[in-house]
Amino acid sequence: MVDLRYIGHSAFEIKNGDKAVLIDPLVSVNDKFDWKEEPITDILLTHAHGDHLGEALEIAKEKDIEITAVAELAGYCKEQGAKSKPIGLGAWINFSWGRAVFVPAFHSSSLPDGRYGGVAAGIILDIDGVRIYHAGDTCLTGEMKTIKELYAPQIALLPIGGNYTMDVEHAAMAAKWLGVRTAIPMHYGTFPEIQADLERFARLIAFNNTACQILNPEDIKQ
Ligand code: NI
Ligand code: MN
Repeated sequence: MVDLRYIGHSAFEIKNGDKAVLIDPLVSVNDKFDWKEEPITDILLTHAHGDHLGEALEIAKEKDIEITAVAELAGYCKEQGAKSKPIGLGAWINFSWGRAVFVPAFHSSSLPDGRYGGVAAGIILDIDGVRIYHAGDTCLTGEMKTIKELYAPQIALLPIGGNYTMDVEHAAMAAKWLGVRTAIPMHYGTFPEIQADLERFARLIAFNNTACQILNPEDIKQ
């Protein structure tokens, strides 16, 4: 049974039974989310920007778990004293809770100290046949048509805030190209420059019979 929870910004916790994976854990945006109480077994990072690295290092060290990311970012995490697993795009990686493949995202990625953070990624999770695509900070790209053909995700977590990523119009097009049943908006509202019209997003994706599931970080339950 897959349980997907929106922590806020681009941070999600996805649980499968007694295991849980965190993606882009900027958990500081939600004081109702107590990571210390969660059975987190892995952290996955789409890229190195601070709003995605979030509290990953602290959580990984405290829980003695591994951060999986592209080689440059994984190397940085290791330098900072956390366990990490360097990967590249395009190969399935097995975990205790399922498997994941990192896919292209069109975006930049720099480490907190300004060094190059490797390519930015999106991540597709396959947990007991449920396929969830976390798009990271990408713009709209034809890669999404390839993602549909290769991985056929059912659920997409899409940035809609514009400025750094897709806006609502492009995210709605992404949902269409991906052919997903459900789209969950993320990466909006956190900063002044990434405000978004959620109702407009829901209306736009309804044209293609995609359901918009708006998850409110305030609703998170332990
Ligand atoms: Ni970014
Ligand atoms: Mn971002």
